[in-house]
Amino acid sequence: MLWSKVISFALVSLALAHLQTALQEESFSACPANFTQVGEKCLMVDSMWKTWYEADRNCRSLSAGLVSVENSVQLKLIQDWLPIAAQYTLEFWTSGNSLGSPGKYFWQNTGSSATYLPWATDQPKTDAGDCLTLYANYSMATGEFVIDVHRLRVNNCTLWAKSICEIEPKAYKTLVCLNSSAFYEAQIPV
Ligand SMILES: *[C@@H]1O[C@H](CO)[C@@H](O)[C@H](O)[C@H]1NC(C)=O
Ligand SMILES: *[C@@H]1O[C@H](CO)[C@@H](O)[C@H](O)[C@H]1NC(C)=O
Ligand SMILES: *[C@@H]1O[C@H](CO)[C@@H](O)[C@H](O)[C@H]1NC(C)=O
Ligand SMILES: *[C@@H]1O[C@H](CO)[C@@H](O)[C@H](O)[C@H]1NC(C)=O
Repeated sequence: MLWSKVISFALVSLALAHLQTALQEESFSACPANFTQVGEKCLMVDSMWKTWYEADRNCRSLSAGLVSVENSVQLKLIQDWLPIAAQYTLEFWTSGNSLGSPGKYFWQNTGSSATYLPWATDQPKTDAGDCLTLYANYSMATGEFVIDVHRLRVNNCTLWAKSICEIEPKAYKTLVCLNSSAFYEAQIPV
């Protein structure tokens, strides 16, 4: 009786050890609710009009930050995604600003100096304010409302605009667990 229990325990342990080594390697990343994976970032449009300060606070309340645009690959991904996420919206707050550092822009969300600055036509108009939006010009020339791609524009931080929050995808791994009655899989943040 005892021996048969020991043997079945050994067999289960052996099977478990194999499953664990097999499944532990199964890792994946996912975005929080309401965020969409865009390249290596999770993004979410906030469609409520807010000042830059309010928009920044709103993102932080979600453990996120206003979006930063660090290179041309990120810009292209965001430009392609925006018309899907928020059709016909011309302007969104980013984390970019020159608050307290006139003429020098930083990405508030990463703390890094903004070296890649893809300005919209006629920008930067540094007298307009201290905060950066992603802005798209539009045209009715053909009789239809046509929106250009979004690029950076300087604006007054106290104006109201929609905004984009960003957060990094969270990494998970799948583990096989054993309780007194069953095997089950658990997704655990890593
Ligand atoms: C996601 O958005 C919906 C609708 O706006 C909202 O009710 C829900 O609370 C949001 N979920 C999270 C986790 O913020
Ligand atoms: C931004 O707008 C506010 C309110 O209209 C105004 O008082 C302030 O001078 C403006 N700031 C800049 C940099 O234009
Ligand atoms: C926006 O587009 C119009 C033509 O549709 C053009 O006249 C105007 O200069 C553009 N404005 C900017 C800021 O690019
Ligand atoms: C064991 O895990 C299964 C699957 O998650 C669950 O349905 C069951 O209630 C658990 N039993 C105990 C005793 O925790």
